[in-house]
Amino acid sequence: MGDRTLRGSDTAGVSYRPVTQAVATQLCEIVGASNVLYDEADRMQDYAHDEVAGEEYAHMPEVVVKPASTAEISEIMRLANREHIPVTPRGAGSGLSGGAVPVYGGILLSLERMDRILEIDTENMVAVVEPGVVTNDLNEAVCPYGLFYAGYPMSRETCFVGGNVAENAGGGRAIKYGVTGRYVLGLEVVLPTGEIVRLGGKRVKDVTGYDLIHLMVGSEGTLGIFGEIILKLLPLPAARVVLLIPFPDVTTAIAAVPRIMTQGRLIPTSIEFMDRLSVETTYRYLEEHPPHADIGAMLLIEVDGPTPEQVEAIYDPIIDLCLDLGALDVYVGNNPANERRMWRLRESIAEAFKAISPVQSLEDIVVPLAQIPALVSALEQLSEKYRVLIPCYGHAGDGNLHATPVKKPETSMEEWSEQLPALLAELYGEVFKLGGTISGEHGIGHKRLSYLPLVMDETLIALQRRIKQTFDPNYILNPGKIFKPPLPDDSRTWGTDSR
Ligand code: LAC
Ligand code: ZN
Repeated sequence: MGDRTLRGSDTAGVSYRPVTQAVATQLCEIVGASNVLYDEADRMQDYAHDEVAGEEYAHMPEVVVKPASTAEISEIMRLANREHIPVTPRGAGSGLSGGAVPVYGGILLSLERMDRILEIDTENMVAVVEPGVVTNDLNEAVCPYGLFYAGYPMSRETCFVGGNVAENAGGGRAIKYGVTGRYVLGLEVVLPTGEIVRLGGKRVKDVTGYDLIHLMVGSEGTLGIFGEIILKLLPLPAARVVLLIPFPDVTTAIAAVPRIMTQGRLIPTSIEFMDRLSVETTYRYLEEHPPHADIGAMLLIEVDGPTPEQVEAIYDPIIDLCLDLGALDVYVGNNPANERRMWRLRESIAEAFKAISPVQSLEDIVVPLAQIPALVSALEQLSEKYRVLIPCYGHAGDGNLHATPVKKPETSMEEWSEQLPALLAELYGEVFKLGGTISGEHGIGHKRLSYLPLVMDETLIALQRRIKQTFDPNYILNPGKIFKPPLPDDSRTWGTDSR
């Protein structure tokens, strides 16, 4: 493999070099030979993709390296920066925008061995963790202390905290608890040059200098690699109820979403939405029967709080309001087993579609809450215009919907690859007109990179490119993500071929 030269105003003169045997040997010296995969195509295959459907989004790394400490990450970055080798950091690979895919080959830096919970500090209500801790494992570890970590991505049983921070993951509890960034108090970061910086600490407030923590949060692995993360914990709510509410159609269900909050003046923990196709597909995938014969759409609403009485005071009026607004029924999950079962339906939707309709494009568009009904009608019009199914589910209470165009069996792959980019561009345009944007929680990665200019002006993109250049002068950390790399004649125009 020869040099891959980067050209363009912000990266003039930068080029990538291949991972030679000599480089692989140095990597073995840093992390130990058993933690390096080189020339092992079979075992490296797992690191070539994330959860985005479609082989065209995959790319093999030249070497996989698994460091065990911040110091080792730093040494790897120094080597890569010296040699001009691209490095792609990877958590659990549960991402949905191709963020952890090594699109320029090079070093795939997997954080899987850095999976220790270093400290549960009950006095300060914080946890200090390594990036490879599974999000749910953190919650299980802090639960006996009466604490919880409020980050709640749907993939919480597999995803890593480090990836959640890198993507600023959202999920199903953001209405009440916000997204990951709200809980990040401190970070130890290895910069692309190999330097190590510590940001923040175990303090709730900090306005000393620029807020670099929240520049790192959501930077999609392009500005630094986390070695340690300090997370804020909350008191574990003692009471919780989940409501599963079938509606006759999408319009009625979606209209209820803003009204629960504006008319009911109630802020639940979650308001999740599922349309007919999502409900049917997921019940079929789980080999279960829907609880009602004619479900046109369904809401899943969770309420939590310090006491059962306080929770009841919130969910009782929600039940009445939903029935008034046309709900077919309300099922109340008030013990761990039926709560789990209700959430399992919602949490399995993405998996169900991937298994049943693998040629698809899972989107995570977001609009202001009051525009949710307008968004749903725009989706219906697009579905008719392009003659494509667009099942839809997601975090309706946040205005964040997973509209998922799926290929119909009678549509050829050729037709599909032509119509999808046009459909997505039109969808994103509609979302933008409604005051929304193209990604609420999965990120731009390389999947949406070519669409970014649809919703962000040149000045703002140029400003972010300059930030990238400040952190990463040789453009080696996770290139090909968020912004189009300045390669005018590069055949890899990532994102234009979303299928
Ligand atoms: C979900 C993932 C797809 O909400 O974000 O299921
Ligand atoms: Zn989601």
